[in-house]
Amino acid sequence: MLEGKLEELSQGAVARVRAAANAEDLEAIRVEILGRKGTLAAVSKDMGKLAPAERARIGKLLNAAKQGLEAAIEERKKAFAAAALQKRLDREWMDMTLPAPGPRPGSLHPITQIQMEIEDLFTSLGFTVLSGPEVETEFNNFDALNIPSDHPARDMQDTFWLEDGNLLRTHTSPVQVRGMKRLGPPLRMIAPGRVFRNEEVDASHEHTFYQLEGMMIDREVSIAHLVYYMKTLLGGIFHRSVTVRLRPGYFPFVEPGFELDIKCLICGGDGCPVCKQSGWLELLPCGLVHPNVLRNGGIDPDQWNGFAFGLGLTRLAMMRYVIDDIRLLQGGDLRFLRQF
Ligand code: PHE
Repeated sequence: MLEGKLEELSQGAVARVRAAANAEDLEAIRVEILGRKGTLAAVSKDMGKLAPAERARIGKLLNAAKQGLEAAIEERKKAFAAAALQKRLDREWMDMTLPAPGPRPGSLHPITQIQMEIEDLFTSLGFTVLSGPEVETEFNNFDALNIPSDHPARDMQDTFWLEDGNLLRTHTSPVQVRGMKRLGPPLRMIAPGRVFRNEEVDASHEHTFYQLEGMMIDREVSIAHLVYYMKTLLGGIFHRSVTVRLRPGYFPFVEPGFELDIKCLICGGDGCPVCKQSGWLELLPCGLVHPNVLRNGGIDPDQWNGFAFGLGLTRLAMMRYVIDDIRLLQGGDLRFLRQF
């Protein structure tokens, strides 16, 4: 009686295994029949009631049924795996005949682009391009520029001091001093470079930014010369003639000193958010070189004079490309930089 039941059960189970639609169904069937509380377990419990000889015979049949079922399950599992693999292979393929994309072309940082343009412009006007160190002496950064240690003008530039008494240059003006000593008069030089100030960083302030210093020393250099060169510079950058105005500005290393403003290029002077409704943009601090600075550069102020200016390269890049957050320029984020 048990034998017949077993036979029927195993045939039914094998048929169900073969008909299972997916791996989950298959597992459910396996648990239902082979599991600890499954149908076969129930049958083996009934075996206890049999005579020993009968028990051995039925035990064998039970094992055979179990093995047959396990084999059927295994076979079905393999079929499922093969089908899944085939499906994946049909979906994932490569066209090996497509041309390779190749390396993505790089581009220069917008500040570097502007810097190089200005270098080209000034070299065409007979200026030498100099560079100075980012770690400077206190003397070159301040004292030689007519800013003694007790002078309140030092507070205009919050300084990163180094433990050895040197500092991170707060402007490119120390290259004026190096340039005067190196070139001697008459001279024309520009010095682009990175400068550092101990600033709270926000959309318009950075601790690290770029300037471009300029200096010309000759006989009887006048403010008219200064204005001529500044207008040439600005025309070269903005590719149109710009209207400028001079306001008095205080920098201890120039006398007289100016803030050179340009008429706002966005609104044409009517007032807009970029020029803060004033119609003018403050762009170029400049002036005639102070006699003390000439002296500190080894040049006789009775024989020579000149002008100097400091262009904010970072500022200029922001204006030219209408970038409203300075942190974008310094952050190195390629998603931003790739557009240039
Ligand atoms: N070095 C000054 C600054 O960074 C700018 C400047 C340069 C002013 C040259 C006058 C002449 O603020």
